[in-house]
Amino acid sequence: MSLGEPLLEATDVRVAYQGHVAVEGVSVTLARGETIVLAGPNGSGKTSLLKGLMGLVPLQSGQVKWFGQPLERFREQRRLGYVPQQAPIQRAPMTALEVVELGARADPGKWFERRHVRSKALSALERAGAARLATRPFGKLSGGQRQLVLLAKALVGEPDVLLLDEPTTGLDALVKRHLLEWISEYGIRNHAALFMVTHDPALLDLPQARVLALKPRIGNLTSGPEPGERLAAGAPAVKAAVQDV
Ligand SMILES: Nc1ncnc2c1ncn2[C@@H]1O[C@H](COP(=O)(O)OP(=O)(O)OP(=O)(O)O)[C@@H](O)[C@H]1O
Ligand SMILES: [Mg+2]
Repeated sequence: MSLGEPLLEATDVRVAYQGHVAVEGVSVTLARGETIVLAGPNGSGKTSLLKGLMGLVPLQSGQVKWFGQPLERFREQRRLGYVPQQAPIQRAPMTALEVVELGARADPGKWFERRHVRSKALSALERAGAARLATRPFGKLSGGQRQLVLLAKALVGEPDVLLLDEPTTGLDALVKRHLLEWISEYGIRNHAALFMVTHDPALLDLPQARVLALKPRIGNLTSGPEPGERLAAGAPAVKAAVQDV
Protein backbone atom coordinates (compact mmCIF):
# COMPACT_ATOMS: atom_id res chain seq x y z
CA MET A 1 0.00 0.00 0.00
CA SER A 2 1.12 3.56 -0.58
CA LEU A 3 1.87 5.92 2.31
CA GLY A 4 -1.23 8.00 1.65
CA GLU A 5 -3.62 5.05 1.83
CA PRO A 6 -5.75 4.80 4.98
CA LEU A 7 -4.68 2.27 7.61
CA LEU A 8 -8.32 1.42 8.16
CA GLU A 9 -11.18 1.59 5.71
CA ALA A 10 -14.55 0.40 7.00
CA THR A 11 -17.71 0.59 4.94
CA ASP A 12 -21.29 0.07 6.04
CA VAL A 13 -20.40 -2.09 9.02
CA ARG A 14 -23.12 -4.00 10.84
CA VAL A 15 -22.66 -5.99 14.05
CA ALA A 16 -25.51 -7.98 15.57
CA TYR A 17 -25.81 -10.47 18.40
CA GLN A 18 -28.45 -13.16 17.92
CA GLY A 19 -30.57 -10.79 15.89
CA HIS A 20 -30.01 -7.78 18.17
CA VAL A 21 -28.41 -5.06 16.05
CA ALA A 22 -25.66 -3.22 17.94
CA VAL A 23 -24.01 -1.32 15.05
CA GLU A 24 -25.39 -0.54 11.65
CA GLY A 25 -24.38 1.51 8.64
CA VAL A 26 -21.08 2.73 10.03
CA SER A 27 -18.32 3.82 7.66
CA VAL A 28 -15.04 5.19 8.90
CA THR A 29 -11.45 5.63 7.73
CA LEU A 30 -8.32 6.14 9.75
CA ALA A 31 -5.09 7.54 8.37
CA ARG A 32 -1.52 7.39 9.65
CA GLY A 33 -0.91 10.00 12.37
CA GLU A 34 -4.64 10.54 12.87
CA THR A 35 -6.58 10.39 16.16
CA ILE A 36 -10.23 9.37 16.23
CA VAL A 37 -12.22 9.65 19.42
CA LEU A 38 -15.46 7.68 19.35
CA ALA A 39 -18.15 8.83 21.77
CA GLY A 40 -21.78 7.88 22.36
CA PRO A 41 -24.06 6.84 25.22
CA ASN A 42 -23.90 3.50 27.00
CA GLY A 43 -25.08 0.71 24.74
CA SER A 44 -24.72 2.73 21.52
CA GLY A 45 -22.33 0.12 20.09
CA LYS A 46 -18.87 1.63 20.58
CA THR A 47 -17.26 -1.55 21.91
CA SER A 48 -19.09 -3.67 19.36
CA LEU A 49 -17.83 -1.45 16.55
CA LEU A 50 -14.25 -1.65 17.79
CA LYS A 51 -14.45 -5.44 18.12
CA GLY A 52 -16.10 -5.75 14.72
CA LEU A 53 -13.35 -3.69 13.11
CA MET A 54 -10.73 -6.01 14.60
CA GLY A 55 -12.60 -9.20 13.74
CA LEU A 56 -13.18 -10.10 17.40
CA VAL A 57 -16.91 -10.34 16.73
CA PRO A 58 -18.27 -11.30 13.32
CA LEU A 59 -19.55 -8.64 10.93
CA GLN A 60 -23.07 -9.27 9.72
CA SER A 61 -22.33 -7.13 6.71
CA GLY A 62 -20.00 -4.44 5.51
CA GLN A 63 -16.32 -4.37 4.62
CA VAL A 64 -13.24 -3.71 6.69
CA LYS A 65 -9.73 -3.31 5.33
CA TRP A 66 -6.58 -2.95 7.41
CA PHE A 67 -3.50 -1.70 5.57
CA GLY A 68 -5.34 -2.37 2.32
CA GLN A 69 -6.05 -6.03 3.25
CA PRO A 70 -9.62 -7.27 3.70
CA LEU A 71 -10.23 -8.29 7.31
CA GLU A 72 -10.75 -11.94 6.31
CA ARG A 73 -7.22 -12.08 4.91
CA PHE A 74 -5.53 -9.76 7.39
CA ARG A 75 -2.84 -11.64 9.31
CA GLU A 76 -0.80 -8.80 10.83
CA GLN A 77 -2.74 -8.40 14.07
CA ARG A 78 0.50 -7.41 15.81
CA ARG A 79 0.23 -4.07 13.98
CA LEU A 80 -2.88 -3.35 16.05
CA GLY A 81 -2.45 -2.61 19.76
CA TYR A 82 -5.73 -3.16 21.56
CA VAL A 83 -6.73 -2.48 25.14
CA PRO A 84 -10.25 -3.76 25.84
CA GLN A 85 -12.79 -2.02 28.05
CA GLN A 86 -12.62 -4.86 30.52
CA ALA A 87 -9.31 -6.51 31.33
CA PRO A 88 -9.42 -10.17 30.29
CA ILE A 89 -9.26 -12.66 33.13
CA GLN A 90 -5.76 -14.09 33.45
CA ARG A 91 -6.13 -17.81 33.97
CA ALA A 92 -2.45 -18.43 34.63
CA PRO A 93 -1.02 -16.40 37.51
CA MET A 94 1.27 -13.83 35.88
CA THR A 95 3.19 -10.84 37.09
CA ALA A 96 2.58 -7.43 35.54
CA LEU A 97 5.91 -7.70 33.72
CA GLU A 98 5.00 -11.08 32.24
CA VAL A 99 1.73 -9.64 30.95
CA VAL A 100 3.62 -6.82 29.20
CA GLU A 101 6.05 -9.36 27.75
CA LEU A 102 3.14 -11.05 25.96
CA GLY A 103 2.83 -7.89 23.86
CA ALA A 104 6.54 -7.87 23.04
CA ARG A 105 6.46 -11.51 21.95
CA ALA A 106 3.71 -10.70 19.49
CA ASP A 107 6.50 -9.68 17.15
CA PRO A 108 8.78 -12.72 17.16
CA GLY A 109 10.80 -11.50 14.18
CA LYS A 110 12.05 -8.50 16.10
CA TRP A 111 12.34 -9.64 19.67
CA PHE A 112 13.09 -13.31 19.84
CA GLU A 113 15.63 -13.04 22.62
CA ARG A 114 14.27 -13.47 26.08
CA ARG A 115 16.46 -10.79 27.67
CA HIS A 116 15.57 -8.31 25.00
CA VAL A 117 11.87 -9.04 25.51
CA ARG A 118 12.26 -8.47 29.24
CA SER A 119 14.13 -5.20 28.86
CA LYS A 120 11.59 -3.90 26.31
CA ALA A 121 8.75 -4.82 28.66
CA LEU A 122 10.49 -3.15 31.60
CA SER A 123 11.03 0.05 29.62
CA ALA A 124 7.36 0.09 28.65
CA LEU A 125 6.35 -0.33 32.28
CA GLU A 126 8.73 2.46 33.26
CA ARG A 127 7.22 4.70 30.59
CA ALA A 128 3.82 3.90 32.11
CA GLY A 129 5.15 5.08 35.46
CA ALA A 130 4.39 1.57 36.68
CA ALA A 131 7.84 -0.02 37.05
CA ARG A 132 7.15 -0.68 40.73
CA LEU A 133 4.34 -3.02 39.70
CA ALA A 134 6.62 -5.30 37.66
CA THR A 135 6.75 -8.21 40.10
CA ARG A 136 3.20 -7.85 41.43
CA PRO A 137 0.61 -10.47 40.40
CA PHE A 138 -1.47 -8.90 37.62
CA GLY A 139 -4.69 -10.33 39.06
CA LYS A 140 -4.16 -8.46 42.31
CA LEU A 141 -3.66 -5.01 40.80
CA SER A 142 -6.28 -2.27 41.05
CA GLY A 143 -8.38 -1.42 37.99
CA GLY A 144 -6.30 1.66 37.17
CA GLN A 145 -3.01 -0.22 37.63
CA ARG A 146 -4.21 -2.96 35.28
CA GLN A 147 -5.13 -0.33 32.72
CA LEU A 148 -1.57 1.00 32.75
CA VAL A 149 -0.07 -2.47 32.48
CA LEU A 150 -2.36 -3.38 29.57
CA LEU A 151 -1.47 -0.17 27.79
CA ALA A 152 2.21 -0.97 28.25
CA LYS A 153 1.49 -4.42 26.78
CA ALA A 154 -0.25 -2.85 23.78
CA LEU A 155 2.55 -0.35 23.17
CA VAL A 156 5.55 -2.61 23.66
CA GLY A 157 4.89 -4.24 20.29
CA GLU A 158 5.06 -0.78 18.65
CA PRO A 159 1.76 -1.10 16.80
CA ASP A 160 0.82 1.15 13.88
CA VAL A 161 -2.68 1.56 15.28
CA LEU A 162 -3.64 1.81 18.92
CA LEU A 163 -7.26 0.91 19.69
CA LEU A 164 -8.27 1.82 23.22
CA ASP A 165 -11.71 1.17 24.68
CA GLU A 166 -12.33 3.71 27.46
CA PRO A 167 -8.65 3.98 28.41
CA THR A 168 -9.07 6.57 31.16
CA THR A 169 -11.91 4.96 33.11
CA GLY A 170 -10.99 4.67 36.76
CA LEU A 171 -7.75 6.65 36.50
CA ASP A 172 -7.02 9.55 38.82
CA ALA A 173 -6.37 12.97 37.28
CA LEU A 174 -2.58 12.77 37.49
CA VAL A 175 -2.32 9.28 36.01
CA LYS A 176 -4.81 10.24 33.32
CA ARG A 177 -2.76 13.24 32.26
CA HIS A 178 0.36 11.11 32.16
CA LEU A 179 -1.40 8.46 30.09
CA LEU A 180 -2.73 10.97 27.56
CA GLU A 181 0.71 12.54 27.16
CA TRP A 182 2.21 9.09 26.71
CA ILE A 183 -0.32 8.05 24.06
CA SER A 184 -0.04 11.33 22.16
CA GLU A 185 3.75 11.21 22.23
CA TYR A 186 3.67 7.61 21.00
CA GLY A 187 1.37 8.57 18.12
CA ILE A 188 3.62 11.44 17.06
CA ARG A 189 6.91 9.55 17.43
CA ASN A 190 5.73 6.44 15.58
CA HIS A 191 3.42 8.27 13.20
CA ALA A 192 0.80 5.85 14.48
CA ALA A 193 -2.98 6.21 14.40
CA LEU A 194 -5.11 6.27 17.53
CA PHE A 195 -8.71 5.07 17.78
CA MET A 196 -10.13 5.69 21.24
CA VAL A 197 -13.57 5.05 22.64
CA THR A 198 -14.52 7.28 25.52
CA HIS A 199 -17.04 9.14 27.64
CA ASP A 200 -14.26 11.28 29.04
CA PRO A 201 -14.39 15.01 28.16
CA ALA A 202 -10.58 15.17 28.49
CA LEU A 203 -10.27 12.95 25.40
CA LEU A 204 -13.08 14.63 23.52
CA ASP A 205 -11.16 17.87 23.91
CA LEU A 206 -7.85 16.56 22.56
CA PRO A 207 -6.88 19.24 20.05
CA GLN A 208 -5.75 16.83 17.33
CA ALA A 209 -8.73 14.49 17.59
CA ARG A 210 -11.50 13.87 15.09
CA VAL A 211 -14.54 13.23 17.26
CA LEU A 212 -17.18 10.80 16.03
CA ALA A 213 -20.35 9.99 17.90
CA LEU A 214 -22.48 6.88 17.79
CA LYS A 215 -26.05 7.84 18.49
CA PRO A 216 -28.24 5.61 20.60
CA ARG A 217 -30.39 5.23 17.52
CA ILE A 218 -29.08 2.30 15.55
CA GLY A 219 -26.64 2.90 12.77
CA ASN A 220 -26.02 6.63 12.93
CA LEU A 221 -22.46 7.80 12.92
CA THR A 222 -22.16 11.56 13.19
CA SER A 223 -19.02 13.51 12.46
CA GLY A 224 -18.12 15.89 15.22
CA PRO A 225 -16.00 19.01 15.00
CA GLU A 226 -12.88 19.06 12.88
CA PRO A 227 -9.56 18.59 14.72
CA GLY A 228 -8.83 21.57 16.91
CA GLU A 229 -12.43 22.74 17.10
CA ARG A 230 -14.35 22.49 20.30
CA LEU A 231 -17.68 20.78 20.75
CA ALA A 232 -19.83 23.17 18.82
CA ALA A 233 -23.10 22.97 16.99
CA GLY A 234 -23.28 19.92 14.76
CA ALA A 235 -22.20 17.34 17.30
CA PRO A 236 -25.33 16.84 19.40
CA ALA A 237 -24.61 13.19 20.16
CA VAL A 238 -21.18 14.10 21.44
CA LYS A 239 -22.67 16.74 23.70
CA ALA A 240 -25.16 14.21 25.04
CA ALA A 241 -22.29 11.84 25.83
CA VAL A 242 -20.44 14.57 27.66
CA GLN A 243 -23.49 15.40 29.74
CA ASP A 244 -23.79 11.73 30.71
CA VAL A 245 -20.41 11.76 32.45
N1 LIG B 1 -21.86 -10.33 23.67
C1 LIG B 1 -23.04 -9.71 23.50
N2 LIG B 1 -24.16 -10.44 23.33
C2 LIG B 1 -25.37 -9.83 23.14
N3 LIG B 1 -25.54 -8.49 23.11
C3 LIG B 1 -24.45 -7.72 23.28
C4 LIG B 1 -23.16 -8.28 23.49
N4 LIG B 1 -22.26 -7.27 23.63
C5 LIG B 1 -22.98 -6.12 23.51
N5 LIG B 1 -24.29 -6.39 23.31
C6 LIG B 1 -25.37 -5.42 23.11
O1 LIG B 1 -25.00 -4.56 22.03
C7 LIG B 1 -25.34 -3.21 22.32
C8 LIG B 1 -24.09 -2.36 22.21
O2 LIG B 1 -23.20 -2.74 23.26
P1 LIG B 1 -21.74 -2.15 23.36
O3 LIG B 1 -21.05 -2.85 24.47
O4 LIG B 1 -21.12 -2.20 22.03
O5 LIG B 1 -22.04 -0.61 23.74
P2 LIG B 1 -21.08 0.54 24.22
O6 LIG B 1 -21.42 1.75 23.40
O7 LIG B 1 -19.68 0.08 24.19
O8 LIG B 1 -21.55 0.78 25.71
P3 LIG B 1 -20.73 1.28 27.00
O9 LIG B 1 -20.57 2.77 26.87
O10 LIG B 1 -21.62 0.92 28.14
O11 LIG B 1 -19.42 0.55 27.04
C9 LIG B 1 -25.98 -3.20 23.70
O12 LIG B 1 -27.38 -3.20 23.52
C10 LIG B 1 -25.52 -4.51 24.32
O13 LIG B 1 -26.47 -5.02 25.21
MG1 LIG C 1 -18.23 -0.20 25.63
